[in-house]
Amino acid sequence: MTVDIDAAAIGFEPAEPTFIADPYPAFAALRGLGPVLYYEPRQVYLLTRFEQVHTALRDRRLGRAFRHRYTPEEFGQPEPDGRWPLWSRSERWSLLNLEPPDHTRLRRLISAVFTPRAVAALRPVVEELSARALRTAVAGGDFDLIADYAQPYSVAVICRLLGVPEADGPRLLDWSHAIVKMYELHTDLARMQAAERAAGEFIEYVQDVIRNRRRRPRPDLISRLIEVADRGDRLTDDEIVCTVIVLLNAGHEATVNTLGNGMRALLLHPVQWRRLLDGEVDPAVAVEEMIRWDGPLQLFERWVLDDGVEIAGQRLRVGDRIGMLFGSANRDPARFAQPDTFDIGRGDVTHIGFGGGLHFCIGALLARLEIATSLAQLRVQTPNLRLVEEPGYQPFFVIRGLTGLRVLAR
Ligand code: HEM
Repeated sequence: MTVDIDAAAIGFEPAEPTFIADPYPAFAALRGLGPVLYYEPRQVYLLTRFEQVHTALRDRRLGRAFRHRYTPEEFGQPEPDGRWPLWSRSERWSLLNLEPPDHTRLRRLISAVFTPRAVAALRPVVEELSARALRTAVAGGDFDLIADYAQPYSVAVICRLLGVPEADGPRLLDWSHAIVKMYELHTDLARMQAAERAAGEFIEYVQDVIRNRRRRPRPDLISRLIEVADRGDRLTDDEIVCTVIVLLNAGHEATVNTLGNGMRALLLHPVQWRRLLDGEVDPAVAVEEMIRWDGPLQLFERWVLDDGVEIAGQRLRVGDRIGMLFGSANRDPARFAQPDTFDIGRGDVTHIGFGGGLHFCIGALLARLEIATSLAQLRVQTPNLRLVEEPGYQPFFVIRGLTGLRVLAR
């Protein structure tokens, strides 16, 4: 039986500021209604509880993409918009858009160079960049922890990882911001044209770096992506370009927003901040609760690709769409004791903030390192950190982040 929800009655209104300010009571109401709910405005079956989200992430009959198996017409979806060829090219080989066998092949080649060892080797660089960015931010008196610290820091880390000059960071960010506007539900023509232009410039930039590294390889990720060979297989230039773009787009925003949302939570819970300062809780442990309690990514979708899918008694058909509510699953009382309590010592790494199954975040180790390093630096450099004003959230639901986080270090 399909359970339709009266979204307004229970406060699930993704575009409303009151919902965005605190979506968690509405999630609790949704979980109370059932594990699978039909949300008519977006024609999607929402999964509200941890168990079903955890299982769906691992269900190979569900896919992020469908075009490798079906035509848009068969799925009742519009044809790809032919007006934006460069934008389409920039994401043609993004891991996030692929399903097996292409996904398997590409993920194997990328994982061969983006290894736990490569991330561990970045630790001194990450520590140096964090210390420097925080010193610069603090020097100006009160500062915005997001714009003045988290943004420049996380872009600098990705530049170092890729092996491009840090001075190019702002340019890469501008391109990335312009490109992702194409995912908004209502994007005007000017924004689409800007996204197309940005994609073209970004592609050219990476092609240029590839040409240089081919002539003179260096110990960086782009050189290794060029060299990687596995059973005689190699990444094409187009695949490397898309990989660089997705690493920047996927890697930057979520890390910055985790730092923003998580530091807001810590400063609003002084007892928890004190546990960190006193050394009772390790920064690496606190990171997990920051992601679980107020994560930066709230919804991921999947298409039903095969017959026979049934979730908690709800039969689904090929072409149906599923929306996994990460923020709701991570507050499910059936999975987490006192789920609304922000307890930085909880140390539960099995939250679904990084996803699961074959699209599990490839940057999870790096993200954990970046955030834990930031907490360690904040603890040393700004033990008296406090909020200057109550922060507000950006008016988006899926990507959850603050507009800014003004703080004072002394
Ligand atoms: C706290 C920070 C982060 C969070 C919460 C996060 C979360 C996620 C989630 C939930 C997915 C899975 C999406 C799905 O199943 O549909 C994902 C995928 C991905 N993430 Fe992250 N991420 C973070 C940081 C990073 C970083 C630092 C990088 C790279 C430098 C990165 C690169 C990627 C890539 C390339 C994918 C696609 C993997 C695939 O499809 O096989 N992420 N991330």
